[in-house]
Amino acid sequence: MRYSLLAGGKRVRPVLALATAEAVGMDPDEVLPLAAAIELIHTYSLIHDDLPAMDDDQLRRGRPTCHVAFGEDVAILAGDGLFAEAMRLVVEHQPGEPDRVLAALGRLVDAAGVSGMVGGQFIDVTVTDDLDPDHLRHLHELKTGRLIAASVECVIQLGSITGPATIALRRFAAELGVLFQIVDDILDVTGNEASLGKPQGSDERHGKRTYVSVFGLERARELARESHAKARAALGEAGGRTEALEQITDYILTRQR
Ligand code: IPE
Ligand code: IPE
Ligand code: MG
Ligand code: MG
Ligand code: MG
Repeated sequence: MRYSLLAGGKRVRPVLALATAEAVGMDPDEVLPLAAAIELIHTYSLIHDDLPAMDDDQLRRGRPTCHVAFGEDVAILAGDGLFAEAMRLVVEHQPGEPDRVLAALGRLVDAAGVSGMVGGQFIDVTVTDDLDPDHLRHLHELKTGRLIAASVECVIQLGSITGPATIALRRFAAELGVLFQIVDDILDVTGNEASLGKPQGSDERHGKRTYVSVFGLERARELARESHAKARAALGEAGGRTEALEQITDYILTRQR
């Protein structure tokens, strides 16, 4: 668990949670347990994603994958353990009114589960036909989008924030999640292993349906730019102290890792 979690990683999801807190006028320090819990769940998803039965990858966060270092049995358990520890972190350490903490946790488990990351991973590993563009977007919304969106939505829940700004923020968060995975698909083709810290070309080796395999590289890049523009527009509508969220959004488009 420590080996994979502390290997580094961009920490996009927790940073997004802290930036959301800032945007809606909460103290970012107060959302740290929730933010960290999201990163634990994300790390569990990476450990399982790399297993031989899934993407069968050998490199993650610049290190041999968890199952390469410790064996498949331990890697499966490390993922399961990280999920449980994420729940513990929120239940035992997240400050706030109990009903608010519970509402935030509800968002998080929903995003991690069947109607979120796990459901998306299921589609990813079972799909055999070509995906039309709508289904491809749906796959990305679930497998990556929901957990990224939860990084924003959980904070809104925790702070009991309401009003039109939250509608725009939710739209922003959903688009950002899809953007993240479009860029991940592009980097799988154009990135290099040393800066990615994970194998290049994994999707093609495994015949995955991605924005690049369905649309081609150039169109995928265009779609990423369009998605980025939509996310920025939604953020503009939200108002508030959104400078950090703007920076994260730009980073997600231009990142090289
Ligand atoms: C990789 O996520 C897996 C996806 C959901 C696309 P990240 O690119 O955030 O990986 P780390 O956390 O930086 O290692
Ligand atoms: C995985 O998508 C999304 C997860 C839920 C972990 P990928 O399989 O494309 O992620 P990478 O490229 O291995 O990081
Ligand atoms: Mg995968
Ligand atoms: Mg993978
Ligand atoms: Mg990928």
